[in-house]
Amino acid sequence: MAELQEVQITEEKPLLPGQTPEVAKEAEIAARILLDRGQTHSVETPYGSVTFTVYGTPKPKRPAILTYHDVGLNYKSCFQSLFQFGDMQEIIQNFVRVHVDAPGMEEGAPVFPVGYQYPSLDQLADMIPCILQYLNFSTIIGIGVGAGAYILSRYALNHQDTVEGLVLINIDPNAKGWMDWAAHKLTGLTSSISEMILGHLFSQEELSGNSELIQKYRNIITHAPNLDNIELYWNSYNNRRDLNFERGGDITLKCPVMLVVGDQAPHEDAVVECNSKLDPTQTSFLKMADSGGQPQLTQPGKLTEAIKYFLQGMGYMASSCMTRLSRSRTASLTSAASIDGSRSRSRTMSQSSESGTLSSGAPGHTMEVSC
Ligand code: BEZ
Repeated sequence: MAELQEVQITEEKPLLPGQTPEVAKEAEIAARILLDRGQTHSVETPYGSVTFTVYGTPKPKRPAILTYHDVGLNYKSCFQSLFQFGDMQEIIQNFVRVHVDAPGMEEGAPVFPVGYQYPSLDQLADMIPCILQYLNFSTIIGIGVGAGAYILSRYALNHQDTVEGLVLINIDPNAKGWMDWAAHKLTGLTSSISEMILGHLFSQEELSGNSELIQKYRNIITHAPNLDNIELYWNSYNNRRDLNFERGGDITLKCPVMLVVGDQAPHEDAVVECNSKLDPTQTSFLKMADSGGQPQLTQPGKLTEAIKYFLQGMGYMASSCMTRLSRSRTASLTSAASIDGSRSRSRTMSQSSESGTLSSGAPGHTMEVSC
């Protein structure tokens, strides 16, 4: 494996004349982002080759963060805004990150030949062990969006012992029913593949608002040189099997799970239903206001805050290293996001902005942020 870059920036650096600690911190973050460009690898699997990019160095006794992106995107267009967000650096510097690109979605990917049998979502999940074996990583915390959230869930169902936690954004664990198929076929008569994928990623309100973000993603998807590959991933997503989650049943996620969805996002109902099927002692549900269909793009600050609590609940983030971060973000998260579950609020993860301290309940209990 190619050697990974360790970017060490010491805290004791003298400040430049006139430089405040805040400015120094921003400069440090900028330097870290610039220097760590990631190392891209490909491995062969029984279902074809898969490409992934590794940032940071493995940390002893810590899981890797492994991400899986949604249809129409790749790891960069899906996760860069989140992982390069300023406050996120305090979290991710403690973890090595493995960002998987679904086959044919990596930058510069050649178009698959006509008739190529693209892997099903279940087969994409079955490629993950090859990646972990190659890197010699034993456990992960998964962060997935849409199809990526489904793939990570399927992987977790098959490899419970290797998944320490999951952040699932916009997950729809159900196979398409005949009504969905009929609607999908009808839409397909009048819309292009790229418009259908945009309708999967963003709310109708966002699409008609045509903000700069929408224009950017419409442009990326419509002009993607690998649009034929994207259509294959899209078809696999639409042909997914039901994950068959069952509360109290055998088929369930055993690790701590944070479900995330934007309010009025296309998948809001599916995520709400998913929450009702998972183990309430292990699952937290974050419905994020003002975030549209892609909270990791539109609200990286609030999502960073939620991930921080999630990791802290799992015992991975000492509260001391998060005090600055939490102080600076409390108000915005409280005003616009609710972290809720369908159960008693008696055990909460709470934060007091007056003291600036954090206390956490066990992962999986209702999380509440207040100030
Ligand atoms: C990371 O640091 O993990 C990262 C950097 C750039 C894009 C995506 C992720």
